[in-house]
Amino acid sequence: MNKTWPYPPIVAHRGGGKLAPENTLAAIDIGAQLGHRMIEFDAKLSQDGEIFLLHDDTLDRTSNGWGVAGQLPWDKLVQLDAGSWFGSAFTDERLPLLADVAARCRQHRLMANIEIKPTTGLDAETGRVLALASRVMWQGQVMPLLSSFSYQALEAAQQAAPELPRGLLLDEWDDNWQALTTTLDCVSIHLNHKLLDKARVALLKQAGLRILVYTVNNPDRARELLQWGVDAICTDRIDVIGPDFR
Ligand code: G3P
Ligand code: CA
Repeated sequence: MNKTWPYPPIVAHRGGGKLAPENTLAAIDIGAQLGHRMIEFDAKLSQDGEIFLLHDDTLDRTSNGWGVAGQLPWDKLVQLDAGSWFGSAFTDERLPLLADVAARCRQHRLMANIEIKPTTGLDAETGRVLALASRVMWQGQVMPLLSSFSYQALEAAQQAAPELPRGLLLDEWDDNWQALTTTLDCVSIHLNHKLLDKARVALLKQAGLRILVYTVNNPDRARELLQWGVDAICTDRIDVIGPDFR
């Protein structure tokens, strides 16, 4: 794999998911309006194999639907209101398809970190379909950085489109991190920032990994992490931790 790292140090979490409904085109637009150069978002499969954005397994929290999103076909999902839960100004927001997000990234010249968030049991299928689609949808742009907490999803993405950069997500420290990232040929490791101290950053960097941390909303903590050598900060506070934050 080509281990170049074209990505900027600040990444807008879920688009700009605290200023607009997370994982919608409106959130992506706000990130771009504030000058951000990279967004993170969560993607999964509908029952009939369409790739769309949603964080949770279920529709309940961030739409007017309910139940497991991956058990519904796209023609049902597309009818849902994915904005009113956040505020009346967003009534028209829909769950976006990955293809529409790719077009919006192209329009705004935004780089992307696509978190593969498979519906339970669909890990490998989601990783495979998403990698194949991303390769085509992002043609002519900087390739998206694929990440997942699911080893199986990343393995399937690696097999389907090995040239796409991958990052392993960990929410707890795993002493096996080196073997896992090596087997998956990861360019990066994506960690809950609370797991990191200066020594761990040095250890990971020595192994040749790029480090992305989430979700850092305190500017002092963001500055500390960048000083230790962390490569990218994923933040909700895209208004405070802006694209040129140091
Ligand atoms: O990719 C970093 C971060 O988004 C992972 O946590 O729950 O916000 O998807 P979560
Ligand atoms: Ca995410």
